[in-house]
Amino acid sequence: MAPTRRPVVTTPAAPVPIADIGFDDLSRQPVGIGELDRVLGGGFVTGSVTLVGGEPGAGKSTLLLQAADALADVAGTVVYCSAEESPEQIRGRAGRLGTLHPRLQLACHTDVTAIVSILDDHRPAACVVDSIQTVEHPDVAGVAGGVAQVRECASVLARTAKRLGITVVLVGHVTKDGQLAGPRTLEHLVDTVVEFDGDRHHALRLLRAVKNRFGPVGEVGCFEMTADGLRSVGDAGRLFVGEAAPDSTGVATTLVLEGRRPLACEVQALVAPTTLANPRRITSGLDGARLAVLTAVLQQRVGIGLLDRDIYAASVGGLRITEPAADLALALAVASGAIDRPLPLGVVALGEVGLAGEIRQVARMSDRLAEASRLGFGSALVPAAYDGADGGMSLYRVRDLHEALRAAGLHSSGRRDATADRPVDAARMGAAAEPGSAEARMGAAAEPGSRARVSVSEPEGGHRPEARMGAAAEPGSAEARMGAAAEPGSAEARK
Ligand code: TYD
Ligand code: MG
Repeated sequence: MAPTRRPVVTTPAAPVPIADIGFDDLSRQPVGIGELDRVLGGGFVTGSVTLVGGEPGAGKSTLLLQAADALADVAGTVVYCSAEESPEQIRGRAGRLGTLHPRLQLACHTDVTAIVSILDDHRPAACVVDSIQTVEHPDVAGVAGGVAQVRECASVLARTAKRLGITVVLVGHVTKDGQLAGPRTLEHLVDTVVEFDGDRHHALRLLRAVKNRFGPVGEVGCFEMTADGLRSVGDAGRLFVGEAAPDSTGVATTLVLEGRRPLACEVQALVAPTTLANPRRITSGLDGARLAVLTAVLQQRVGIGLLDRDIYAASVGGLRITEPAADLALALAVASGAIDRPLPLGVVALGEVGLAGEIRQVARMSDRLAEASRLGFGSALVPAAYDGADGGMSLYRVRDLHEALRAAGLHSSGRRDATADRPVDAARMGAAAEPGSAEARMGAAAEPGSRARVSVSEPEGGHRPEARMGAAAEPGSAEARMGAAAEPGSAEARK
């Protein structure tokens, strides 16, 4: 079935009252690939122009061949125009992907006017142009891929899309810094821009809407690159956690926001003696500058000696973490690695770490906690200032790294005493430092047999209480104690 076509933009010749302008709802065509439709806001809008950007090798051609095939099934004829690969190459890939729909047609052209002629003559429902950097307009000077060519080709295709009501999808290559002539200069010419992102050494691919005239931005789709193409990953909950052995040191879990979606993610740190004058600080999937800052904060504010250690830190599964919300987890992972003691299981850490060692609030905390709870995590270290919903978790509100390390049972003992130069912390933490305190309770939960790892992998399995760090979830528990200890005046009261 082919939907009715109409141009997306109708421009009245003279100004008219806005309320008098007739309109009907956008004709939107769901593709049938769940994660793609999610990012687009329910599918492609008929007659719109979408730019799919990404680094070479990200999987743009793969995604769009699959999308073209799916669209051919629901919307009518789809023309896939390649200006990069031969018909045989694409046919070979389509065979592997199983995208051989009878209404999917292939054309290989580099001349954009030839592509426009195809659209005029055949009036397909949709057309994919792969890529905008390799097509050229004969009347425009400059090489294909140059700014002038890219802009003219895109605007010719955009005008054709509006004129004929054909859904047009452009592929655009982006370099790591996004500076290459192309996608960045095209954003205002197209209706929707989605970015396809992923480390080619990992299977994970994230699709993000960065501009959408017809829907929300910030939506993220998760895909897995398999031997048979891209597979939608509807529930990414367990992709980035839970592979390390339960007693591994240097492992902490946080939740980062990818668009609107909180994703649980493990961060890992290996802290090893160095032979270098300038110890290594090496990251993968994490911001190197952030690791350097957190290392300095741990060193100077908490007294964890790291000057003679190399630190290697990584996210799991190829996720790129740039959010400050992951600071606390990374700091805990480094501290855990440095003192060679594991974090209690079933705990997540959320918070930005300031230069003074303070733990700062992060956005959308309750959504992150709800997702952690759904995945079976029982406890969370959160900034002391957070006063929102606990999402069913036991919350440990921490003001600074001292409190966080104590709550996680990680305060360094053999090394320089973390609290020696800050006696107020002992008072501030109050009950948390006493036997039966938060620290002790969380420590107890870290014993074999009470491991939350079980519940992380079986969230519905009724193991939740084990994940909850035992008594800490009870009234009058560590959470309550820490809350009380954190109240103004409580430090004095205790003294
Ligand atoms: P491709 O779609 O060509 O990337 P782009 O168009 O963004 O440059 O594919 C990227 C990589 O994906 C390629 O190196 C091979 C791999 N791949 C698979 O793993 N499975 C598949 O089914 C296909 C088609 C490709
Ligand atoms: Mg390609």
